[in-house]
Amino acid sequence: MPKAFDVAIETVGNEVSQPLARPLADESSARRAPGAAGAGKSFYIETFGCQMNVHDSEKVAGVLLGRGYRAAANAVEADLMLYNTCSIREKAVQKVFSRLGEWRGQKRKIIGVLGCVAQQEGEEIFERAPWVSLVCGSASYRELPELIDELESGGRRVLGLDLDVDETFETEITRRDNPHRAYITIIEGCDYACSYCVVPHTRGPERSRPSDAVLVEARRLADAGYTEIQLLGQTVNSYRDPSPRQLGFVDLLREVAAVEGIRRVRFTTSHPNDFDRQIVEAIDSTPALCEHVHLPVQSGSTRVLRAMRRTYTREEYLEKISWIHSARRPISVTTDIIVGFPSETEQDFADTITLLDAVGYDGVFSFIYSPRPNTTAASMPDRIPEPEKSRRLAILQERQRQIQLARNEKLIGQTFEVLVDGRHQARAQWTGRSGSNRIINFTSPCENLLGEYVQVQVMRAGPHSLIGEQA
Ligand code: 5AD
Ligand code: SF4
Repeated sequence: MPKAFDVAIETVGNEVSQPLARPLADESSARRAPGAAGAGKSFYIETFGCQMNVHDSEKVAGVLLGRGYRAAANAVEADLMLYNTCSIREKAVQKVFSRLGEWRGQKRKIIGVLGCVAQQEGEEIFERAPWVSLVCGSASYRELPELIDELESGGRRVLGLDLDVDETFETEITRRDNPHRAYITIIEGCDYACSYCVVPHTRGPERSRPSDAVLVEARRLADAGYTEIQLLGQTVNSYRDPSPRQLGFVDLLREVAAVEGIRRVRFTTSHPNDFDRQIVEAIDSTPALCEHVHLPVQSGSTRVLRAMRRTYTREEYLEKISWIHSARRPISVTTDIIVGFPSETEQDFADTITLLDAVGYDGVFSFIYSPRPNTTAASMPDRIPEPEKSRRLAILQERQRQIQLARNEKLIGQTFEVLVDGRHQARAQWTGRSGSNRIINFTSPCENLLGEYVQVQVMRAGPHSLIGEQA
């Protein structure tokens, strides 16, 4: 198992399933440069948002380590404090500014804002929080070393907001925050133009990494002791290899899954438009490909999908679901849904509820529509009042809770392989995930199971997790 280091990246986002302040794993500490510019100084990164942000923070940490910075044990001690931010919904942006407010008056500390809020607000951040001296969007992370140089040589304010890029962010060192599951970004940015979404404005155009670079990283991770890899992208299955090999997404999935030592490969997030039968066939025929697909639908109404510019109808989406359902392996399906999109009628909302039943999702991330700057939906008429949005969200979540409970209860008696990633001391239970991404808490007579693959028999079921015993 990879070695664990001090905490220097903390995730407080609402997109990942749980806040984490876990130990870090540094797969290449040997390559640190103690004589480099940052020698002796320390950093701390707080991350808001999605897995892409979590992984970007790991790479930014790698850049800093390579410059001789060391990881601070907590934010208070750090010389350089970075916030990697999310702007997918208004609430996430508010959270960033309130966190920044807590750092006002920290005279000697360098404070930087990275990620989507950096890109969206740009220089405005210096106005609203003059104690910030670095603002850099994710498409400009390749410039980070120069920006940090400028700060170290006395620069007061530095800015990286270039969106016009055609390359991905590659780092020599990545300081991974999970000792068991490693992220690899295979595609950055997004070329879709969903009318509600800021991502194309904050992360820039789609660009894929050369397949060789991805495979080299996967082999390096396997050598370092990782057994589970999660391939990342806003639209991960739109992957197009820019190198002469021209691997398609499915070819890449198969090659990563074939890397010796890798037992599980996941991928997220898939766009329904680029989701084809070959993906299902690959999962069916490749045991190392996890039997789980996250396929955001956003709405069950074709009329709303059109207004959202999602490029598929309800029927087309359901056809893709039928491919998944007819697979030989049971593949779990999860989704994202937005309620209260402008002009969403009672009938549109009812269509979303019936879609929940038609698909039988194993998990749903549901959100209240939030108007975002520079998006076309923000100026659409017929906004839905906030209380009505909340009412719809509550109905949807309750229906989905019932569906999940019923689905999970059917699993009682079955045995799953669980990769153990935690321990609930008070409950004397281990916790981990099945290949289908279900959370399973279980008891075992064993002393230390962290990072192990264990067969667990399900004894009880709740809507969000299963309880079992080591088989
Ligand atoms: N309002 C609410 N939810 C949104 N999402 C993206 N943009 C918005 C918005 N403006 C949701 C979508 C997406 C998930 C990551 O966040 O469901 O899939
Ligand atoms: Fe946003 Fe749509 Fe791109 Fe997903 S596919 S990141 S929702 S624009």
